[in-house]
Amino acid sequence: MSPVGHALPRLAPRFRHFLAELDRREGYVAGHSVSVCETALRLGEALGLDADELDGVTLGALLHDIGKVFVDGQLLGKPAPLTPAEAATIRLHPQLGEALLAPTVSHETVLGIVRWHHERWDGGGYPDGLAGAATPLPARIVAAADAFVAMGETRTYRRSRGLDDALAELQRESARQFDPGCVEALVDVLGAATRREVA
Ligand SMILES: [Fe+2]
Repeated sequence: MSPVGHALPRLAPRFRHFLAELDRREGYVAGHSVSVCETALRLGEALGLDADELDGVTLGALLHDIGKVFVDGQLLGKPAPLTPAEAATIRLHPQLGEALLAPTVSHETVLGIVRWHHERWDGGGYPDGLAGAATPLPARIVAAADAFVAMGETRTYRRSRGLDDALAELQRESARQFDPGCVEALVDVLGAATRREVA
């Protein structure tokens, strides 16, 4: 069984229910969190995270958007651009997720991923505006994996992009939105996998 297959049954039933509910409300065609988790684990392994950190990445990636259960479902699947007030509401989800998990989850890596997966390398992210390596590496990994997976998914409000487009977008945002080390590793890992499939 894959690491993600092992991790899912370890989640409390209400967290599994929340993940299914998020997929439904956001209009994802398949489990977004599971895909982010698989990508983040490959990236974490390539970047040399130890077993404890990889364990944290597994749970943290699965639960990274759990705070969105507190956000109105109409906003999450909204096909039109969000108003500033609506965007501000959605941007509360990292702190809400951390608050939801903190009473029962003690792994700092998990809580850090949930809180900081929308921070940017250039410091322009949220909720804390952390820049560069001030954001812990597991959270930077999940930020890159989350964006990459979202680009490949078909949601209610846009079509999916091809792999090459998605990797090119990540490279354009390297050292801006994303940790350049994560982008480089992701291109290496996914590019190699694609070349194997084509060969
Ligand atoms: Fe998020």
